Amino acid sequence: MFSPAAERNKIPISNVLGPRLPESGIVLEIACGALQHACHMAPKHPNLVWQPTDINPEAIAHGQAISLPTNLRVPRHLNVLDDSWPIDHANAIYSANLMHISPPGVPAALFRGARKLGVSDVFVYGPFIVAGQPVAEGNLRFDDDLRSRNSQWGIRALGQIEECAALSNFNMIDSVAMPANNLFLHFTGVD
Ligand SMILES: C[S@@+](CC[C@H](N)C(=O)[O-])C[C@H]1O[C@@H](n2cnc3c(N)ncnc32)[C@H](O)[C@@H]1O
Repeated sequence: MFSPAAERNKIPISNVLGPRLPESGIVLEIACGALQHACHMAPKHPNLVWQPTDINPEAIAHGQAISLPTNLRVPRHLNVLDDSWPIDHANAIYSANLMHISPPGVPAALFRGARKLGVSDVFVYGPFIVAGQPVAEGNLRFDDDLRSRNSQWGIRALGQIEECAALSNFNMIDSVAMPANNLFLHFTGVD
């Protein structure tokens, strides 16, 4: 498994994510794919335990077959839409390129899960449609392509993600413009 896009974006994401991660504790990565982000980021934060997860058995098998940095756990199966997740506590959640390539119920389920696990920070990366801003030509084409592949997929509206977060008492505290018309979103839990 290998993703050229993950290879391109792992450094820009790490530069924005790194300073926001907790000093210690567990980072639950959701939709880890080929583990390129996790393998790049986990060794930079040796006091964290990085737990990658994915719905795809191929991603789990890939993680079992390669050598992992010491603080990067073997990936576990996690479908965001399942009621029960494989761990019961995490300090932060990181998820890249999931929202547009999964069913529309996923954003709300992700924040519900984050609330259950006692997570303080949720970091989400990907393309989003921002109200009042023109959609980049590349994202329009990407959205068409996604919807033609699966009617449940498509680039989500940022406002919709914020509403899903608010249902579980998470507020967006930052939105950072990233290369190739992507956004890095930082949510924190409100008590
Ligand atoms: C485009 S890949 C992103 C992989 C990696 N995060 C990256 O940015 O390179 C989307 C990933 O979402 C996972 N996925 C899709 N639906 C999911 C769900 N309901 N729960 C968890 N993971 C899911 C897929 O298996 C796939 O690995």
